[in-house]
Amino acid sequence: MSLSRAAAFAPVNIALTKYWGKRDHEINLPLAPSISVTLSDLGTLTVVQPDESLEGNRMVVNDQPLDPKGLVKVGRVMRVVRQLAGTDVRAGIRAVNTVPTAQGLASSASAFAALAKAGASAYGLELDERTLSGLARTGSGSACRSIHGGWVLWHAGERDDGADSVSEQLLAPEDWPLRVVVAHIGEGPKKVSSTNGMKLSEQTSPFFDAWLKTCHQDVEDCKAAMINRDVQQLAHVVEGNALAMHATMMATRPGLVYWQPATIGVIHAVRRLREQQGLSCLFTIDAGPSVVVLTEAGDLPKVSAAIGAIPGVTRITQTRIGPGAHLVPNG
Ligand code: PMV
Repeated sequence: MSLSRAAAFAPVNIALTKYWGKRDHEINLPLAPSISVTLSDLGTLTVVQPDESLEGNRMVVNDQPLDPKGLVKVGRVMRVVRQLAGTDVRAGIRAVNTVPTAQGLASSASAFAALAKAGASAYGLELDERTLSGLARTGSGSACRSIHGGWVLWHAGERDDGADSVSEQLLAPEDWPLRVVVAHIGEGPKKVSSTNGMKLSEQTSPFFDAWLKTCHQDVEDCKAAMINRDVQQLAHVVEGNALAMHATMMATRPGLVYWQPATIGVIHAVRRLREQQGLSCLFTIDAGPSVVVLTEAGDLPKVSAAIGAIPGVTRITQTRIGPGAHLVPNG
């Protein structure tokens, strides 16, 4: 066993068909499969330094000590790493996010994918991507998809130990190079975390069973749209899936309303651009007010300009579909 400092960058991913509901809340096993695209540039850089002098893991995120809830999740990932490496040595961990935390932009996905990648390397483990995705999943479910680049499927799996609940790449970034516009909306962290929100929806949303059925079908329809490289077909599935998840959230007691007025503004704008101006674009929304728009490269200038002009959109970020988690040699 060789212990040494390691750094990794992992990008965020945005789900095209969503994960909202777990069969195991401890190790994040989903009730349904989901499909995402990995975004380039936006993500987390994490450095793991094994340190024999530490009694527990230490972690700093954007120069602030990590809160106790976050440390529990980090502890789960690092426990598996130590078990696989056969050591008790704890680590000092430093993470820097290039995406705002807890605004519905999956910062936890990049954080735990980067932790899994850097942690495995720091403890001398050579894990394949499938195993790494399972490791990232134990910190945050959606993190398993950020191990891979491009278009990614997360299998729900059936096993209790989660060994089959891992992700795989369906298309490489260059296979269908759609562009991405993130419309940032709202300030500060969201009020109800995905972890708590999911649990509440499972327990109280009258739409929850219907939502799960939708997920299984939408994954198949999304794959078909991907094979055809058909933006219209993709828009039908992806927008329908996001709206169905938010309907399930809103019907939860008490209702989870993540949207702001500008969220609805972007939804209508994207539909107008597509239906009235013939632009190839579609939207999706995670557990927060911000909206992510996918578009063909040729339509990017017009789509960005229209979205950026909507009142309440504080900022837009343009990005691409990119590679998955990777080590940063001198990070
Ligand atoms: O992995 P978590 O606990 O951050 O949950 C993510 C949930 C959604 O972002 C709303 C959907 C998804 O599939 O990423």
